[in-house]
Amino acid sequence: MSHEPLVLGIETSCDETGVALVRGRTLLADAVASSVDEQARFGGVVPEVASRAHLEAFDATLDRATAEAGVSLADVDAIAVTSGPGLVGALLVGVSAAEGLALALERPVYGVNHLAAHVAVDRLVHGDLPEPAIALLVSGGHTSLLRIDDVTLDVTPLGETLDDAAGEAFDKVARLLGLPFPGGPHIDRIATDGDASAIDFPRGLMSHDAEHRLDFSFSGLKTAVVRWLKAQAESGEAIPTADVAAAFQEAVVDVLVSKALAACADEGISTLVVGGGVAANSRLRSVLSERATRLDVRIPPARLCTDNGAMVAALGAALVERGRPPSSPGIGADSSLPVTWVTARRSGLPGPAPGIF
Ligand code: KG4
Ligand code: ZN
Repeated sequence: MSHEPLVLGIETSCDETGVALVRGRTLLADAVASSVDEQARFGGVVPEVASRAHLEAFDATLDRATAEAGVSLADVDAIAVTSGPGLVGALLVGVSAAEGLALALERPVYGVNHLAAHVAVDRLVHGDLPEPAIALLVSGGHTSLLRIDDVTLDVTPLGETLDDAAGEAFDKVARLLGLPFPGGPHIDRIATDGDASAIDFPRGLMSHDAEHRLDFSFSGLKTAVVRWLKAQAESGEAIPTADVAAAFQEAVVDVLVSKALAACADEGISTLVVGGGVAANSRLRSVLSERATRLDVRIPPARLCTDNGAMVAALGAALVERGRPPSSPGIGADSSLPVTWVTARRSGLPGPAPGIF
């Protein structure tokens, strides 16, 4: 390869239209258009609204990314696009755009896994991940602990949520507290004025249950918040919103950090990378820095934790650099793509990447 690959990354799995350009491990541009304000009216993501918003936003977001990076599409060496997991209609907008661009530009296209991309984005900030590493993936749809032996090829799930994802729990509790969607950032903000020890909310699956040592459960916590709020309302007392937010957040963070540390100890691995929207949480970041002093903890800045195109381009560049084969035409959208598939399940035949570099 004569130069570091210039990779265009496209993300449309949920409500963010993300288009980014990465050269090797350098982020040149990261344009994001969000339909979250439209979604907030419904209190959650409506798939049809998301798909239409991606269609409407895509061209302008692509133009913004190329202008910001100071490159033309003809300079792009490869294209990476989220092919799953996510909302089928939303994914299809990105996949169709990526395949169209790949055909027009005669460049390879990689259909990639959104979850692996949340892990790979950290290479843009802290350099290539020392492998093996443990990843704590905490987003609106997923909560997992992963062993990363090769972020382009070999990802093994160690534990996952049995019910709600961590971000989903934040969003549901925020709704109970009358906060807008998505609730995570709002809980994070108001919790700073609250007393986390004011209420002792339960920590799910924290007993010494060997079977679920690295799994998560947040539905009991959510129910406990519902019950507590109901009892408080019945007693006629005012709801101490900041205390509820802080105590709830503390329970989630305590479980996430405890289990991430347990995974590192079990696997004998000292690098922990944290990704996904909930990785933006300020309390999670500070508790990790307090409790994980013996580990190399890598958390990208908040804007790279929530969905964006940079994460997809970052994984795409790693795939190109490691000579992984691109996807064959007809990538498709795979709403339940398992995390063990770093690239699209219908990915191309084994073989070297086209020798265009
Ligand atoms: O990764 P992401 O942008 O989309 C998915 O792939 O799901 O994650 C979105 C989730 C939402 O549930 C949102 O409430 C949560 O991440 N989130 C946060 C924070 N920022 C975003 N949760 C807690 N604290 C935050 N600061
Ligand atoms: Zn995500």
